Amino acid sequence: MCGIIGITGRDDAVEGIVAGLKRLEYRGYDSAGAVIPDGQQLRAVKRAGKLEEFVHALEGQPMASTCGIGHTRWATHGAPTDRNAHPHLDPTGRVAVVHNGIIENYQLLKAELGDVRFASDTDTEVVAYHVARELDALDTPDLAEAVRRTVRRLKGAFALCFVAIDDPETIVVAKKEAPLIVAHADGVGYCASDVAALIAHTRDVAALLDGQVAVIRPDGLEITDVDGNPAQPHEYTVHWDLEAAEKQGYDSFMLKEIFEQPQAVHDTLLDRHTASEPGAAPALHLDELHIDERELARIDKVFILACGTSLHAGMVGKLAIEHWAGIPVDVEVASEFRYRDPIVDAHTLVIAISQSGETVDTIAAASHARDQRAPVLAICNVVGSTLAREADGVLYTHAGPEVGVAATKTFVTQIVGCLLTGLYLSQVRGRMFATETADILSRLQQMPAAIEQVLELDGEIRELAERYKDTDYTMFIGRHAGLPIAMEGALKLKEISYLHAEAFPAGEMKHGPIALIESGSLVVALAPGGHVFPKMVSNIQEVRARGASVLAIGTDGSAADLKEHADHVLTLPEPTHELATTVLSTVPLQLFAYHVATLRGEDVDKPRNLAKTVTVE
Ligand code: G6P
Repeated sequence: MCGIIGITGRDDAVEGIVAGLKRLEYRGYDSAGAVIPDGQQLRAVKRAGKLEEFVHALEGQPMASTCGIGHTRWATHGAPTDRNAHPHLDPTGRVAVVHNGIIENYQLLKAELGDVRFASDTDTEVVAYHVARELDALDTPDLAEAVRRTVRRLKGAFALCFVAIDDPETIVVAKKEAPLIVAHADGVGYCASDVAALIAHTRDVAALLDGQVAVIRPDGLEITDVDGNPAQPHEYTVHWDLEAAEKQGYDSFMLKEIFEQPQAVHDTLLDRHTASEPGAAPALHLDELHIDERELARIDKVFILACGTSLHAGMVGKLAIEHWAGIPVDVEVASEFRYRDPIVDAHTLVIAISQSGETVDTIAAASHARDQRAPVLAICNVVGSTLAREADGVLYTHAGPEVGVAATKTFVTQIVGCLLTGLYLSQVRGRMFATETADILSRLQQMPAAIEQVLELDGEIRELAERYKDTDYTMFIGRHAGLPIAMEGALKLKEISYLHAEAFPAGEMKHGPIALIESGSLVVALAPGGHVFPKMVSNIQEVRARGASVLAIGTDGSAADLKEHADHVLTLPEPTHELATTVLSTVPLQLFAYHVATLRGEDVDKPRNLAKTVTVE
C-alpha cells in the first residue's frame, strides 16, 4: 500500500524523505515522488518504477529545503505511470497532496469543478483542487482550515498529507480508515504512514484517530478534529527494531496480512456503488470496463480460470454468478484450459482471477479465450499487471501488497471481487432491483467487523494447533460454499507446514476418502448454518464413528448442534449473507495453518519450493 513520509524542520529534509521512503518499500509500490516548498513554488519530482528511478530524477534538482512530503504509490486508480505518481498539485501549483486510500466520491468532486482538465487518472488529484479552492475562499490563508473544510466532504478511506506555498514550513495531515503516525523530536516534525519510517528519528509517536487533522511544524504538533476542536491522538513508544517495525510488530508478514483482512475487505468494497453523475441513481461498477454492457447481457456461459488459491476464490464466484445472475459457470485450472478444446465464443465471458496478474498459465488461458473472441474480465490485485492490461475489463481487489508467499488477504478480497462480479452481472442482465443489490451490498459491508470478531479466536486456534501439530494427515470437508474453503484450508496447511492435507466434498467421503480415516486422523469440517448443515452433521458423524477427531467450523446458529458431534467447535458470527460465510470461515483455517507451521519451526513467509508469482508454465 502507499507509503507517506513528511518532514519539517531539518536542513536535509529531502535526504530524510528518501531514507523514509526506503523504509516504506516493504509495503509494495510502483512509483515514488516528493514535493518541497522552494521559494515561491512547490517543486515536485515523481517517477514510475523503483525508488532508484526517483532518486535518479532528484539528482541535479535544486531540492534544498527544510520541509517536504514524499510518497510511494501502490496504484489503485490509474496505471502506475509518472503522471499518476504522487504528489498531485492543484492547477495553480499552490497546494500539493499525497494520499494513501481511496476517495470514494472523487467523481462527484470532479464534476463539481466543472470543465477542468486533470493531469492524472487518480482519485487523489481532485483533493488538491478542492483544498486550493477552500484556501482561496478564506480571508487569511490557513492550510489546516482549508483541509478540514475539504475532508469533511470526502467519502472513503484516506491518509492525506499536504503542503502549501503560503506557509512553506507547515505540513497538514488528515486521517480516516488509513494509518497515519505523527511525531515531533528535537525541533523536527514528522508524519508517516507507519512507524518503520520514523524509528530512525524517534520512538515516541502518536497515531492519529479517524477524523483527526494534525498541523506539523518545526516547533510542534497541533491536533484537532475536523471541526477544529482540540483532539487527542493515541500516543505510544515504539519498542520494535526495524525488521519488526516493517511487520508492525507481528512475527511474520503472513500473520500481519491475516490481521489486515478486515481493512482489505473494507477497501475492496469501497467505491463500488456510486452515481457517475450528480443526481444519477447509484449503480455497481467495475474499475475498467471495455465490454459493452449489452454484450454482457447476452453472455450465455462463463468460464472462471485461475491457479492455486485464486482458483478457490473462483469456485465461490461460480456460486455467486449462478445464484444472482443465472448464467452457467465452469471453473477450471488455467493450465488445463489452454491445452484442450474448450467451447468458447463471443457469448462466453471468461473471468481470469489472479492476485499478481502475472501468473503465466492464467495469462495464457485468458489469451487463448480472447483468440476465440470471448471477452475477458480480470479480477486482479495489481494495477497495470499483464493480465489487467490485456483483459477487456478489470475489477481490482484492494488488498494492498502481499509479502507472504501463501495468499491470505488477497484470497478473501478475491471472494469479495467474485461476489461483486455476480451482483454486477445480475445488474446488467436486469435480474435484480437496484434496491435489492443495494441491500446485499450493505449487508456485505458488515463483513470487516465480523472478520474482526473471528480474529479474536486466535488464542483458541493456537491451542488447537498445539494439540494437532504432529498429525500426519488432515482431511478438510465441506459442501456448497464450504467446499472451496475446505480446499483453501487444506492448501494453506500443506503449503506452509508440509503436512499432508486434502479436501473433499463431504458427500464424496463414502466413495473412497473415508477409507483413509482411522483413529488419530483429524477432520476439519466446514459446517456453518445453512441449507447443507444437516448433511454436514451426518458426514461428521460418519468420520467420527471411525475414530477421527473433528474440528468443526460453525456459526452462531449451528454451533450448539455441532457441539454434540464434534471434538472442537470454532464459532463464527452469523454471516449477513450465506455466501459471505466463505470470507469468515477462511480466517480460522489460515490461523490454524499458521500456528501449526510456526509451532513446527517453519518459515511461513517463505515456504520451501514455492514462489509468490509463478511466471513459468
Ligand atoms: C502461486 C502462489 C499462490 C497463488 C498462485 C496463483 O502458487 O504461491 O499463493 O495462489 O501462485 O497466483 P496469482 O497471482 O495468479 O493469484
